Amino acid sequence: MSRPLRIALLGHRFMGRAHSNAWSQVSRFFDLPVHPVLQVACGRDVQALQEFAHRWGWAGIETDWRRVLERDDVDIVDIALPQHLHAEVAIAAAQAGKHVFCEKPLAMTLGEGRAMVDAAEASGIVHYVNHNYRLAPAVVLARQLIDEGRIGEIRHWRGAYQQSWLVDPAFPLNWKLRQATAYAGPQWDLNSHNVDLALHLVGDITHVSCLTRTFIPERPLEEDPARSGPVEVEDAALMMADFACGAVGSFEATRFALGRRNRHTFEIYGSKGALSWDLEDMNRLQFFSEDDPPQARGFRNLLATERIHRYAKNWWPPGHIIGYEHTFVHAVADFLTAVATGGPARPDFRDGLRVLEILEAGLRSAASGRKCAVP
Ligand SMILES: NC(=O)c1ccc[n+]([C@@H]2O[C@H](COP(=O)([O-])OP(=O)(O)OC[C@H]3O[C@@H](n4cnc5c(N)ncnc54)[C@H](O)[C@@H]3O)[C@@H](O)[C@H]2O)c1
Repeated sequence: MSRPLRIALLGHRFMGRAHSNAWSQVSRFFDLPVHPVLQVACGRDVQALQEFAHRWGWAGIETDWRRVLERDDVDIVDIALPQHLHAEVAIAAAQAGKHVFCEKPLAMTLGEGRAMVDAAEASGIVHYVNHNYRLAPAVVLARQLIDEGRIGEIRHWRGAYQQSWLVDPAFPLNWKLRQATAYAGPQWDLNSHNVDLALHLVGDITHVSCLTRTFIPERPLEEDPARSGPVEVEDAALMMADFACGAVGSFEATRFALGRRNRHTFEIYGSKGALSWDLEDMNRLQFFSEDDPPQARGFRNLLATERIHRYAKNWWPPGHIIGYEHTFVHAVADFLTAVATGGPARPDFRDGLRVLEILEAGLRSAASGRKCAVP
């Protein structure tokens, strides 16, 4: 008999919907010793929140996250809020003994991130930061081929996360463009995913060198479009890195790649082979191997939907592809398993903090014009 775990969701827009879908689907596709109960959704706009709770099946609503943490009928706090709220909420939740599933980037500053790690580890809760692309079966396969030595010694990482939603100068100054709520631009928002994948697949980073640019310095205010205000974060960030293993890497993150809506790709080149992945074709991993006979060498398209691939057997017969939202279901499946077994969930707050340390070194490099060591 599976044990119920009661979830509180904070935030009910983009990530609130993706997380609600994951909590709703997970027990239908994964056999777990526990099952999530959609206990309470929290936000500030009561009418929108009520409609959201009704649509997604949340049993109740709250309009103050502090009140959520006081409730003894909540086991897991799911933070789908802008990052300026991650640390305060996660630390209070950990101190209240709740397990924490938190969106990325982990926090605004390294100090906040360290405090989150300390609070989570001191209280013994399960903590997770949602770098969900690690959990795409084709990315799991990439890690497996690397671990098996199939691409040899890694020489190059090339990662790009390209969006285009800021090309229009009339796009308003929302929370993602203000330091007080976002801290930084695509270096934090997009390169956090990019760096997480690089750390996961290639290993630690020792030095970075970074260039940032803000193309449109003023935008209409969200609350009053007749007035404008300064854009406080970068629009694009280009970072180069030294890996501890001797590889070199590049990380490109932008909101100005016209025609690219959400293009997230990586390429890894080693001494014996190469890998490449593209979110827009996320079920496939491209694999080149020097072990192939010379006349048959070329990038192969591996479709990671066979039952042998991690998570794939929980979905559809081979060849029936999955999508973006499935990575969130994998995340909550792993998280619930960790809560049930007392094991860690990965990536955890410590992993999320390492990502921030590298991104922060990148911002320091951009400000100084110098290559910077990552502490
Ligand atoms: N893993 C991913 O692929 C992914 C994708 C997009 C966003 N994110 C991350 O998820 C987080 C949320 O982003 P989003 O795109 O869902 O933002 P959003 O603007 O769509 O939603 C933010 C939500 O937070 C709520 N909120 C804001 N302040 C609040 C407060 N004081 N109390 C209660 N609720 C409050 C808003 O009402 C809204 O429901 C960010 O940290 C972002 O970086 C992750």
